[in-house]
Amino acid sequence: MTTKADAQRMEKIVSLCKRRGFIFQSSEIYGGLNGVWDYGPLGTELKRNVKDYWWRVTVRERDDVVGLDGAILMNRAVWKASGHEETFSDPMVDCRTCKARLRADQIAEKNGVKRCPNCGGKDLTEPRPFNLMFKTYVGATEDELSLTYLRPETAQAIFVQFKNVLDVSRKKLPFGIAQIGKAFRNEINPRNFTFRSREFEQMELEYFCRPEQGLELLEYWKEERLKFYENIGIRRDRLHVKKVSDEERAFYSRGTYDIEYEFPFGVQELEGVAYRTDFDLTQHIKASGKPLDYFDEETKERFVPHVVEPSAGVDRTVLALICDAYAEDEAPDDKGKMETRIVLRFHPRIAPVKVAVFPLLKNKEALVAKAREVQQLLRPHMNVFYDEGGAIGRRYRRQDEIGTPFGVTIDFETLGEKGEALRDTVTLRDRNSMKQERVKISELLQLLLTRVA
Ligand code: GAP
Repeated sequence: MTTKADAQRMEKIVSLCKRRGFIFQSSEIYGGLNGVWDYGPLGTELKRNVKDYWWRVTVRERDDVVGLDGAILMNRAVWKASGHEETFSDPMVDCRTCKARLRADQIAEKNGVKRCPNCGGKDLTEPRPFNLMFKTYVGATEDELSLTYLRPETAQAIFVQFKNVLDVSRKKLPFGIAQIGKAFRNEINPRNFTFRSREFEQMELEYFCRPEQGLELLEYWKEERLKFYENIGIRRDRLHVKKVSDEERAFYSRGTYDIEYEFPFGVQELEGVAYRTDFDLTQHIKASGKPLDYFDEETKERFVPHVVEPSAGVDRTVLALICDAYAEDEAPDDKGKMETRIVLRFHPRIAPVKVAVFPLLKNKEALVAKAREVQQLLRPHMNVFYDEGGAIGRRYRRQDEIGTPFGVTIDFETLGEKGEALRDTVTLRDRNSMKQERVKISELLQLLLTRVA
């Protein structure tokens, strides 16, 4: 159940995202394109931090996972074999009164009567399947032979390249292939800001194993993925794990969990962790006639590996991070009067800007020169923002609103004007506590690196 307060909170988040340059509507000057979004300067940094951290913990810090960067366009035969051409659809209903196209599962029934959520009309068509894949044509002719689709998931490139990756990486089971990339779905009703988009990014891992390891690895990856969300700062009590029931689960899956987050618009899926058995590889073996199996050197067995797939959405993770971080509290203004402060309490690891550097006054050349020096010192190691405009309190507030965890102020103490002991020290302000500590410039980089790692 979402309340009026939840709806208001979501409105504030959407407005902050536009105002501060996290997320814009695509093609806005032409009236937008429904279900498609652009990330502004801060959103780009935030999204990159999410993907980099996922890649770091999923690929670089492990011996048993390698990466792939597959193309968005693939042979249509892939989508036939995977089952997407036949069955990747949502049931759609038309409202004959207002002509709205609706997802059948989103139409509420009251007293046994289904009504259009748009106009309240009762004259609805029977549900019929609507394939979610975007069609496109490869080459100069637009006919059946040149037809293919923009990929609706990144996973299929991993399955069809399984043998090539296995041959070059010489990995032994269990091992995984990871990929981050764009996916496209012609959603009937894109909604809830970026939550259900028509173009989005996925972070997918296909973790191949022996059949008898599947169920255990499903549990393992569910736990690993929960840790991931906690490590980027999402509160554990707002994460939920749903065990997908036998009826809801894909017929080939022997177990699936949805990791969900309490968004202001309801508890919704962030990621699916599915034990997909050997379904995908077997489908491609049958359709292509190529061997995508595995030879176990020790047991001398040849078999088709099973797979556990944690599949996360980048955009949904970014939205969850923003929703989780958004807070309003009280902070003193420049005259010491308390005012409402909007703050994004991002984990420093994920924050788009790690540190802001401020000269106390912009018309004091020595302060500006020192601040620029500090900016140059930190810049190769993290995203630094330099700001000399306006009162220091206002500058802090601007950074609080975009979630910058640290602020460094260069003042007259830094220049040695209040005694030699404080020369070449700066104040380091913490966004959450608003407390300040005095730090030597020579120790600043190391201190910040440990806090944003
Ligand atoms: N390979 C499996 C797969 O694609 P999925 O549950 O359809 O599974 C995985 O998608 C994740 O991709 C979802 O949990 C979600 O985070 C993201 N996702 C799916 N459709 C999306 C959409 N329309 N907009 C934004 N993210 C989406």
